Amino acid sequence: RYAMAANPMPFGASDGAMPAIDVAGARFPEGFLWGTATASYQVEGAWKADGKGPSIWDTFSHTVGKVKGGDTGDVACDSYHRYKEDIALMKQMNQKSCRFSVTWARIQPTGTGQVNQKGLDFYSRYVDELLGAGIRPMCTVFHWDLPQALEDRGGWPNRDLYKHFADYSAIVAKTLGDRVTTWAIFNEPWVFTNLGYGTGVHAPGRKDFNLFLKAAHTVNLAQGEAFRAMKAVSPKAQIGSAYSMSPPTPASDSAADRAAADRYHAINNVFFLYTAKHGEYPKAFVGNPPYDVMGVRDGDGKIMQAPLDWIGINYYNRHIVADAGNGGDPYTHYHEWMPAEGPVTYNGWEVWPRGLYDIVTRISNEYDKPIIEITENGCSYSDGPLPEDPSKAPDPRRIEFYRGHLAELARAIKDGANVRGYHAWSLLDNYEWAEGYSQRFGLVYVDFRDQKRTIKDSGHWYSRVASTSRLDG
Ligand code: NOJ
Repeated sequence: RYAMAANPMPFGASDGAMPAIDVAGARFPEGFLWGTATASYQVEGAWKADGKGPSIWDTFSHTVGKVKGGDTGDVACDSYHRYKEDIALMKQMNQKSCRFSVTWARIQPTGTGQVNQKGLDFYSRYVDELLGAGIRPMCTVFHWDLPQALEDRGGWPNRDLYKHFADYSAIVAKTLGDRVTTWAIFNEPWVFTNLGYGTGVHAPGRKDFNLFLKAAHTVNLAQGEAFRAMKAVSPKAQIGSAYSMSPPTPASDSAADRAAADRYHAINNVFFLYTAKHGEYPKAFVGNPPYDVMGVRDGDGKIMQAPLDWIGINYYNRHIVADAGNGGDPYTHYHEWMPAEGPVTYNGWEVWPRGLYDIVTRISNEYDKPIIEITENGCSYSDGPLPEDPSKAPDPRRIEFYRGHLAELARAIKDGANVRGYHAWSLLDNYEWAEGYSQRFGLVYVDFRDQKRTIKDSGHWYSRVASTSRLDG
């Protein structure tokens, strides 16, 4: 998902015609939560402030050759100091929900033990400011910035981390739980385990498919354990996770490709959701599931299992999946790529609104009509303020992107999905991981030279959507 689009094989499958979209008739339920999302490392900056310990992203971004342009999150959007301004923007944009994440290394600088009160205080102030603006806080406990001290002890492939994570999540829930009720435990667990330990494109940059599997197992254990630890200190907490989900299109009609697409769904989209529901891994691996490699022990099923209160879906694009036989990943035998049939965004991702309908309805059906929130959806385009009038930043393609996706979401709701909220990624242009500042996903433009924020046309459009719940304005 974090590569530029590449089409190593000719695109052969057709997914059918796009249904006509009735924008004027699109409806959202009463009280629908319109929101935006950000993540700590991508916006906060202040990487050494107030006792914060280093995270794997500090280390990675400071390592030559890892991030485009050598960009780091040392300053990012400086939201650690400018959060009041950011929240004022959300309020001005009629937002009802704000998804943000907390930095483990601000709260426990070395990942275990001693709590850094100043770190906790920052998030307390942040939450108070949101509530004062009439915005629901949705707190993500982990959005990729693992304390470096824990990586030094083996990182996520080290099973011990699941207990440390549960301790940390309880500290956060205990401190903020009187004011925060909606929680996402993990953000995109597949992405940070796979890209961090499997392909090495993200921090900590290790490259070994088996390490990915080990990391994934620890994270599955951590999710279940954190769920219980958080409920114990904050019984009213409504806890889910935000999963990266790309609906797979089989590369051809063959039974082999269709089976590969199903394996992709199981081992990618729901690899941390199926486990929470069923307390076991999906039976989707080719051959025996590699439980020995993953380090699965007796009793782990019970630890992984957790009755999540809601499910978060991050949707960006679909993937084409083909059976690759032995040429694919060792245990999955599929090959996937991002198609570019239609228009693509600035980072080469295909614009495919219908995929949001497909994945939301699929999850709704497979998980007994759960409460769903779209925890992220958005696009990178480089448009910025006009030189002749810097108060204006026209970005028509982003408006069309959101209009198309929201129409598909309305259609999924009409067809029975219980979707409670939607978060645009992102409020601000920010630090796009290994792509640095080269990709701008914001509804608000950030000039990284002086931190000036300018609401883009899409931001103004989204403000109207948030106040009217209509897409035709
Ligand atoms: C999903 C990730 O959660 C977020 O951190 C990232 O910036 C967006 N996708 C865009 O790639």
